[in-house]
Amino acid sequence: MGSLGAWVGERGFGRPAGAVGRVGGWLMVRANGMTEKHVVKLAGLRPKDHVVVLGPGPGVGLRWAGKYAAVVVGVDPSKTMLIAAKHRSLDLVETGKVQLIQGDAASTHQPDESANVVLSVNNVHLWPDRQAGLAEVHRILKPAGRLIVAVHKKWASHDLSAEVTEAGFTDVTTSTWNPPTRTAGPATILTAQKA
Ligand SMILES: C[S@@+](CC[C@H](N)C(=O)[O-])C[C@H]1O[C@@H](n2cnc3c(N)ncnc32)[C@H](O)[C@@H]1O
Repeated sequence: MGSLGAWVGERGFGRPAGAVGRVGGWLMVRANGMTEKHVVKLAGLRPKDHVVVLGPGPGVGLRWAGKYAAVVVGVDPSKTMLIAAKHRSLDLVETGKVQLIQGDAASTHQPDESANVVLSVNNVHLWPDRQAGLAEVHRILKPAGRLIVAVHKKWASHDLSAEVTEAGFTDVTTSTWNPPTRTAGPATILTAQKA
């Protein structure tokens, strides 16, 4: 039963794949959509901003960011989620405003100093090497570029603020946000800036 639970967790949410992944994506929209939108709001995006969204899953925040920024690039290892995110933002994908790339936090395939803002919702706990992921985020951000990470509080077991500071970011803040819905618990939100 334990290994079946782990399999469903991985195929449904960790690295969504196939039918189980599509159901996981449907649940993510309902459970995490408000947090995804809240993080975009916190980012205060401007019309010239170039945004990278790590692990967009079904792409609620990706689409929301596409309303405000010049370009929004979603980077996710899951083909199932890339397809779901594409369908959610088909009009924005067609104009090139939203782009989808298969990759992960440690390998975004983005040029050096190309992004103003990097967003990550409910995936930092899945990065197999957080140090490598944070180094990659630091590499792709422009000077004074901003990182915003949100994760369900129950999953935020590590000291992310120390790791982010260690990676060379400044102005690191953490707070708790309570989504106004019964479908999601509190989220830990970290913000930081590239010096
Ligand atoms: C639990 S889902 C969260 C999706 C969405 N952000 C949300 O909150 O609903 C985790 C997402 O992160 C992606 N992911 C897994 N490992 C990752 C990594 N190392 N870097 C970036 N994204 C990753 C998964 O494929 C999946 O789409």
